[in-house]
Amino acid sequence: MNLSVDQDKLLAEIEELACISEAEAPIVTRVVFTAKDLEARGWLLARCEDAGLTIRRDPIGNMFARWAGSDPEAPAVGTGSHIDAIPNAGKYDGVVGVLGGLEAIRALQRGGFRPKRSIELLIFTAEEPTRFGVGCLGSRLLSGALSPEAAAKLTDSDGRNAEKVRGKAGFSGELRDVKLPSDHYRAFVELHIEQGPLLEQQKIPLGIVTRIAAPASLRMVVEGTGGHAGGVLMPDRRDALCAAAEVILAIENAARASGAIDTVATVGVCEVFPGAVNSIPSRVRLTVDVRDTDLARRDNAMHAIDDAMRRVAEKRQVSIHSELVNADAPADCAASVVGALSDACRKHAWPFLSMVSRAYHDSLFMSRIAPTGMLFIPCRGGVSHRPDEYAAPEDIARGTLVLAEALASLSQ
Ligand code: GLV
Ligand code: MN
Ligand code: MN
Repeated sequence: MNLSVDQDKLLAEIEELACISEAEAPIVTRVVFTAKDLEARGWLLARCEDAGLTIRRDPIGNMFARWAGSDPEAPAVGTGSHIDAIPNAGKYDGVVGVLGGLEAIRALQRGGFRPKRSIELLIFTAEEPTRFGVGCLGSRLLSGALSPEAAAKLTDSDGRNAEKVRGKAGFSGELRDVKLPSDHYRAFVELHIEQGPLLEQQKIPLGIVTRIAAPASLRMVVEGTGGHAGGVLMPDRRDALCAAAEVILAIENAARASGAIDTVATVGVCEVFPGAVNSIPSRVRLTVDVRDTDLARRDNAMHAIDDAMRRVAEKRQVSIHSELVNADAPADCAASVVGALSDACRKHAWPFLSMVSRAYHDSLFMSRIAPTGMLFIPCRGGVSHRPDEYAAPEDIARGTLVLAEALASLSQ
């Protein structure tokens, strides 16, 4: 079988999808269940229908576009990723795996391939935690990592209940129907930009993921005492922002002190109340994101953060409350999928790097119900979650071709 990727069409589609954004180009912002997310979903489903795929939507809004195999009852082969984008993001995160997955299917169709097992393109709901605080909402539910009861209790950043938000977006049905049985997929494979610098630095065009790092996140609230910025003297202050600043530095230190380059910690949100120039901050809300390839080391960093919280609260006479949002285990990729991807690379004599994924992906959760693997392509400077995120056309096309060949072998 001689496969070819329609690079021009794929790139044009990536550009077109990037225009469906809440922010002006080159920024992409597409938060789940907003008007732009729904418009992007509609645009994408039209392309899947053009390719002759059969669409299914589940109650949380995960979308499945299926190319039926000659044995439609056999466990399918899945591919795909997400199209939601964090505020101030770029064009490629998630999108390369979705539109690359679609183009991989079209390349197989053009090449005259007939799959035995069905090949299914998945577009997961809310891989990004922007709206509901927890990442991979759709794949957590699909895999059973998040219970329907817990999902129904989630609220968005404006306090709106997830059940109402999905209903308003047009997704109904019982959340308990989202979970897939563990024999639904024979394999799942996700194409993604690396979101790190290694492939570019080492001039290697492809990365085959062997392990996905373990993410955890917390919500933290620091409560102190507000007051007049002129009237309250320094010895009398219980400034919530000064306490938060100490906690933030302790969080950074918890990661730096782990002894491993793989431990990372980030405070990405810091909201100060009341947020007035002449008012002492009385309350601060923080988000904390901690990750490691090693679970015990990740949990050690979490404990160090806990200790720091207590220490700062005591020292500064403030209260600090933290709520665990998620603490997930790492995932190992399946030998069968790693093998299919490696064989495809070798066939073209394309070098590849075996690597870990430090970002999380829907694959982290798909690995709980299916043998799963991931293929990375380089992105310029390792930059991601920024408008200047960039992946070269030839790298996108190469990744798509390797994906197509891996799908072909896994579906036989
Ligand atoms: C996914 O977007 C992540 O934060 O790793
Ligand atoms: Mn992302
Ligand atoms: Mn992503």
